Amino acid sequence: RLSDLRGLVRGRLRIAAVTTAEYFVPDLLGPFGALHPGIDIELAVENRDRVIARLHQQVDDLAVMMLPPDDLPLQSLPFMDNPLVVIGPAQHRLARLGHPVPLEELTGERWLMREPGSGTRWVAEKHFASHGFTPRLAMSLGSNEALKHAVGAGLGIGVISALAIGPVGPSGRAHRHSPWVRLPVEGFPILRQWSLVWRTDVPLSPPARQFVSYLEHQGKPSSKAAGPMQ
Ligand code: PGA
Repeated sequence: RLSDLRGLVRGRLRIAAVTTAEYFVPDLLGPFGALHPGIDIELAVENRDRVIARLHQQVDDLAVMMLPPDDLPLQSLPFMDNPLVVIGPAQHRLARLGHPVPLEELTGERWLMREPGSGTRWVAEKHFASHGFTPRLAMSLGSNEALKHAVGAGLGIGVISALAIGPVGPSGRAHRHSPWVRLPVEGFPILRQWSLVWRTDVPLSPPARQFVSYLEHQGKPSSKAAGPMQ
């Protein structure tokens, strides 16, 4: 049994995580590393398109992402929620509204989006298209942190994973001086999930098998970041 091997497996575990997963993957790896001191871990953090390219090239043993591609033989293990929310500057007119507004209310807004190739952007665009909504795209940003700061600086509003902003209070803010706030918008949060993904046409290394088993049995943190808003 795999559990009998605990602590005895040696080798390298190569994981690629999409950028938004950087907020929780290290927390999963911490206890795993303590259980398996013989396993060296390499964690690459890239956006969705680049993680998919790495899966094609067989660079990693495992990947953590929201939307596995369908043109590769893959197994995926969904293990955690990934709610996507809308954030705006703290002084935004909708910040204290108390009830969700329809997307059309946000037609005149300047929207900030992650870069092309980001899974967050892909899901947001699909969501907008399915609601017949065309956002005014004011700016693309290459990371969640840059997007958060640009929103906080008043440059516009944007879609981001709730995990990237952490838990918010009833006011939609993480803390009293937070420069951004979660905005109440109908249809949000968009509910997606994180999956651990691996190729079924390549044998899993013993360290990778240990990590799959670890996540199946014990590494299921629940996502509390989404909160009850909307
Ligand atoms: P990303 O992450 O927006 O950083 O690409 C989301 C995903 O693709 O899972």
